[in-house]
Amino acid sequence: MNNFFFCSPTKYIFGRDVENEAGRRIADEGGKKALIVIGGGSVVRSGLLDRVTKSLDEAGIAHTLLSGIQPNPVDTKVYEGIRQARAEKCDFILAVGGGSVIDTSKAIAAGVPYDGDFWDFFMGKPVEKALPVGVVLTIPAAGSEGSGNTVITRLDGLHKISIRSPYLLRPKFALMNPELTYTLPFSQTAAGVADMMSHIFERYFSQTEGVEITDRLCEGALKAIMAEALKIKATPTDYDARANIMWSGTVAHNGVLGVGRQEDWASHGLEHELSAVYGVTHGAGLAVIFPAWMTFMADCQPQRGAQLARRVFDIVDDDDRSAALKGIERLKAFYREMQLPTTLAELGIPEPDIDLLVKKVHENKGTPFGFYRPLFPADSRKIYELAR
Ligand code: NZQ
Ligand code: ZN
Repeated sequence: MNNFFFCSPTKYIFGRDVENEAGRRIADEGGKKALIVIGGGSVVRSGLLDRVTKSLDEAGIAHTLLSGIQPNPVDTKVYEGIRQARAEKCDFILAVGGGSVIDTSKAIAAGVPYDGDFWDFFMGKPVEKALPVGVVLTIPAAGSEGSGNTVITRLDGLHKISIRSPYLLRPKFALMNPELTYTLPFSQTAAGVADMMSHIFERYFSQTEGVEITDRLCEGALKAIMAEALKIKATPTDYDARANIMWSGTVAHNGVLGVGRQEDWASHGLEHELSAVYGVTHGAGLAVIFPAWMTFMADCQPQRGAQLARRVFDIVDDDDRSAALKGIERLKAFYREMQLPTTLAELGIPEPDIDLLVKKVHENKGTPFGFYRPLFPADSRKIYELAR
């Protein structure tokens, strides 16, 4: 096991009605005026925004609204949010939504106190200061409520880039009420499940040895996620299943499953190009990319895939390659049961521009990228081909 330093300072406040604590929690963090950031309208239709603003009013927190954040959020809304937060003298950013809203909020938080262009951070400049961010989570998926990451697409050139600032960009608190997820379309619930499973795979596929505790935590989480997801499919208002899936989304990505081990993250790089170029839902893109990436690895480095297959999918087979391939078939069967795509064609990309995808992924991630087995352009091409 590698040396590690783990600190996950976000306060998670979990359960029914916790969104009504938003105002009090901002006050506890010293906030006086909040920029509330929301998406395309689901939180307006559900009445959540009204409850949140009432809670801010009751706590004496002034507020102003930035709406219209789209899935796969873009830089133009970040610039707009930075201007608005400065003009309105906001000292706190409250994200009410999912990963796209939270990531936009984090980028605004970093941009407000910075004199230059916020995109500098996405070009490698470290974030040195940021406004505090709080979250009211509405979809378990990206895990951004507990991560120090933000992923933004620059419209000029369609570059979707992820940055990380483990402490400055981690939300101060996340209010997590599983009932808020009852209104999700099933396709979004399913994509969220594929995303959180992928966050575990990115950590599980590691060359680091002697990491039995995180291996077993990852395997247990994957089994629980698949079982609970199918309960939600059967009964969308199953509170406990929604609660387990909501907490899984956080656990999968707040870092606890990756301590002491080298993580991979190549599949996220490969998927981010699909989201940037074709606008697909991130989790649905991962349901296509991960089986393809695992199939590539089954040929050249099958050990971890074989362990996953045996321990998570109960495959009995002594041959690593063949066990890994059987595990991938089981994973794809689960995705199909969740009505997720498992090929680029099913994802709505029958004629992918693989030259472009390969060029962009290496432009954005470097060459090689990923750690389980670093990928060169010929490898990325093969994986996109396997995904067709
Ligand atoms: O915009 P509204 O109207 O709110 O609708 C949203 C959106 O259309 C809808 N939705 C959310 N909560 C709902 C709801 N509809 C009904 N009821 C609710 N309770 O769901 C749609 C998707 O929302 P989005 O925020 O895009 O989802 P998600 O949480 O999956 O976020 C995806 C983004 O996060 C990035 C992805 O790349 C993608 O851009 N990621 C961020 C990470 C991070 N910051 O650590 C890590 C991830 O790997 C990921 O890359
Ligand atoms: Zn993800």
